[in-house]
Amino acid sequence: MSNPARASWGSKLGLILASAGSAIGLGNLWRFPYIAAENGGGSFLFIYLLCTFSVGITLLFAESALGVKTKSDPAGAFAWINPHLKFIGTLGVFTSAIIVPYYSVVGGWIIAYIAKSFCMADIGNFETHFSEFIASPVSPVLYFYAYMLATAAVVYMGIEHGIEKFCKWMMPLLFLLLLVLMLRVLTLENAWEGVKFFFLPDFSKITAESWLDAMGQVFFSISVGMGIYITYGSYVKDDTISISKTMWPVAVLDVSVSLLTGLTIFPAVFAFGLPMNAGPSLTFITLPAIFADIPLGTFFGIVFFVILLGAAITSSISLMEVVTTFLCDQFKMTRKKAVAAYTALCLVTGTLVSLSFGKLSGFKIGGKILFDQFDFLASNILLPVGGLLTSIAIGWILGPEKLVVFKNKILQRCFEFCVKWLAPVSVLAILLNALGVI
Ligand code: PHE
Repeated sequence: MSNPARASWGSKLGLILASAGSAIGLGNLWRFPYIAAENGGGSFLFIYLLCTFSVGITLLFAESALGVKTKSDPAGAFAWINPHLKFIGTLGVFTSAIIVPYYSVVGGWIIAYIAKSFCMADIGNFETHFSEFIASPVSPVLYFYAYMLATAAVVYMGIEHGIEKFCKWMMPLLFLLLLVLMLRVLTLENAWEGVKFFFLPDFSKITAESWLDAMGQVFFSISVGMGIYITYGSYVKDDTISISKTMWPVAVLDVSVSLLTGLTIFPAVFAFGLPMNAGPSLTFITLPAIFADIPLGTFFGIVFFVILLGAAITSSISLMEVVTTFLCDQFKMTRKKAVAAYTALCLVTGTLVSLSFGKLSGFKIGGKILFDQFDFLASNILLPVGGLLTSIAIGWILGPEKLVVFKNKILQRCFEFCVKWLAPVSVLAILLNALGVI
């Protein structure tokens, strides 16, 4: 399957960093805390960890192995298993087209908050300020365009050189800063109430809906279910690479960033008496409140939002790269044309998504505004369905023994069991249960 003209990573570390760049993003720093808050904190953490280290990691390994083996975009990779399965890869392209617009709207908010960091102390009520900002018809839309164009520019230039270096600096910096912030927050009065909320499970809060939310969060956060790792794996030259050794740090880093975020946001919410039910705005209200209150807060605020922006862009790049590789491989489009066409589509849908907080807030589908509906559809339905189909295709049609993930025989058998049984059965059960079928 090797094609000498196909681009490749500079090193194994390049693949690890780009994959961690895809996994770590707004899913950890923005989505995780508010979804956890909506589902009772500690109880959610428990099922989130369970889903990550069972289904999440299985699919991470399976997708990467398929990419390394086929050296093709997701549609081509599934077509290699069986021509009738090509649609599974194409579904990932559709999922990306749903995620990119709303993800980039949040990316736009980050750029706005970098600008606002300079006058954070004068903002006054962070809650009101934030809700007024996102509801306004012009400025969030313009910030969204800026974010979208920045992402498109990186994908347009190709990722091999920029992204490896970018992630190498940014990821350690992100960890360091989160650690400093966490330590600062944990020394505030009442902060331990937040730690308790985050760690002490209250199992009575777990419903069918929480399982669906946790599964959706795992798929979203670790970036599985839409062919990202098939795409990234396809750029690996060395077929003898150990998939498990290369990819497990991705899962561990992803979970660590979520834990650090939870240990910062929840204690801050309790210490500052902020609203726990703030939904998507939680991070944008609590963090500025901390920055306004600590020495050198403006500096920390700017650094934090710049890093958040970097983390978000490395994820957006991966989302866009799936579509770009698909258009290039399947329709023989040039990278230039593929990026231009896809960006134009996302600019239109993203504008509607941004306006759903203001002018279009009356337009609801299934009781949800467009932003929430896109997020629900992508994370809780499309990604799990993509993961389900992937595990069925590999576990039952290809045969999981065709993908060597572990060199150790026993571990390889465990992987095969997980792809064949654990992943499809648990995802299906959660989906059907949440939809009220079982
Ligand atoms: N994993 C990314 C994050 O946590 C988002 C993402 C989802 C990226 C799906 C690619 C695919 O922010």
